[in-house]
Amino acid sequence: MAAGSLGVANMILYPLINLATVREIAMSKLRVGLLFGGRSGEHEVSINSAKAIAKALSSETNATKYQLIPIYIRKDGCWQAPEIAQAVLESGKPLSTESDDSVGLWQFPPSVNEVDVWFPILHGPNGEDGTLQGLLTLMQVPYVGSGVLGSAVGMDKIAMKTAFKQAGLPQVPYMTLTRAQIWSNSCVFPKLGDEIEQTLGYPCFVKPANLGSSVGIAKARTRSELETALDAAASYDRRIIVEAGVSAREVECAVLGNDNPKASIVGEITFNSDFYDYETKYTDGRAQLLIPAPIPPQIAAQIQEMSLSAFAAVDAAGLARVDFFYVEKTGEVLINEINTLPGFTAFSMYPQLWEASGIQFPQLVDQLIQLALERCQ
Ligand SMILES: Nc1ncnc2c1ncn2[C@@H]1O[C@H](COP(=O)(O)OP(=O)(O)O)[C@@H](O)[C@H]1O
Ligand SMILES: [Mg+2]
Repeated sequence: MAAGSLGVANMILYPLINLATVREIAMSKLRVGLLFGGRSGEHEVSINSAKAIAKALSSETNATKYQLIPIYIRKDGCWQAPEIAQAVLESGKPLSTESDDSVGLWQFPPSVNEVDVWFPILHGPNGEDGTLQGLLTLMQVPYVGSGVLGSAVGMDKIAMKTAFKQAGLPQVPYMTLTRAQIWSNSCVFPKLGDEIEQTLGYPCFVKPANLGSSVGIAKARTRSELETALDAAASYDRRIIVEAGVSAREVECAVLGNDNPKASIVGEITFNSDFYDYETKYTDGRAQLLIPAPIPPQIAAQIQEMSLSAFAAVDAAGLARVDFFYVEKTGEVLINEINTLPGFTAFSMYPQLWEASGIQFPQLVDQLIQLALERCQ
C-alpha cells in the first residue's frame, strides 16, 4: 500500500504498532545458544569453558540482556536439549554416549530454533575448524567467533603457516608431508628421512596438521624417533607437518574484535616438562601463566602487532589467541599458531589476558556477543 493511501486512523495506528514492537524487542532478552561439548579430544575443556560463560551470562548486567539456551553435543556428535545440557553444566561431566535420550545425530533439539545468537565454545576438530561454523552459517543465525574460512585456515597448521608466510610473519622452518608419502612401501620414506634431517635437523617436531591440544605431536631427536613420530602422526591425519625445534619461551596474546581488532597484554606459559604436551596442558599445577609476561616492552609491542597481522592473515573474527616462541638469546619472535576458539575457562589464558587488560570476564562475553551481531549486519 502506498503511504499516501493510508487513512488518518491508520496513520495514527501504524506508529503505535511499530513502537510497541520496538519496545517488545528491546525488552525481550537476546537468546544465546551456548553450544559446547563436541567430538574433539577437548570435550572436557569445552564443558569447563561453557560453565564459565554460562556463569558470566547470569552476571548482573548480562542477565538483563541475555537468556541462556545451553545445547550440548555429546562425544558421539549427538545434540542434546537444554535440560540435559544444563545438567552437564552443573555436573561438569560428559554425558555417556549410551544414554537413550538421544534425539539422533542430525535431529536438532527444537530449542535450536529459538536461538538469536550462537556462542559456540567447542575446541579442536568439529568445533573450531569451520565445520560447525558452516552449519551455523546455513542456519542464518549470527555466531561468536570466526567464520568458515578463518576457522578452517586457523585450524589446519599447513594452511595457517602458508597464510602467515604470505603475511611476512616469521616462523620456524618446516616441511609438509602426506600420510601416503610416510606410509609408502617404496623407497620414498628413507629419502624423506634424509631430507628432513638435512633441511630441519634435530630436534624436530612432528605434528598432525589438524588436531590441537598437542595430541599426536612428538619431539624427535634421532632417526628412529623421527620414524616413530611420523608413523604416529600419520595415524591421526592425512596431512603432517615437521618443524625445526627451537629453544624458546612460549608467549601468547589475545585478540578481540572484527575489522578493527585489539591485542591484549602478552602472557607467558612456563612448565618443567620437555615441551607443552597434552599432560602438561591438562594436569593441574604442571604449567604456570605469567601475566604480564616478563619480557621487554618492545618485544611485547612486536608480539601485539604480529598477533593482529596473524588475525587478519587467516581472516579471524571475534576472538583468537595467538601463540609465539620468544628466543631470548637472539631477541627473535616466531609465530607458532593461532587458536580461533581458545580455552575459555575462568583459568584460561584468553580471558585472563583480557582481565589483566581491563576487560572483566562477563564484559568480555558481552562484547563477543555484540561482535557476533555486528559481523552479520
Ligand atoms: N617448532 C617447535 N619448537 C619447539 N617447541 C615446539 C615446536 N612446535 C611445538 N612445540 C611445542 O609443542 C607444543 C604444542 O605445539 P603446537 O604447535 O602449539 O600444537 P597444538 O596446536 O596442539 O597446541 C608447543 O606449545 C611447544 O611447547
Ligand atoms: Mg599450541
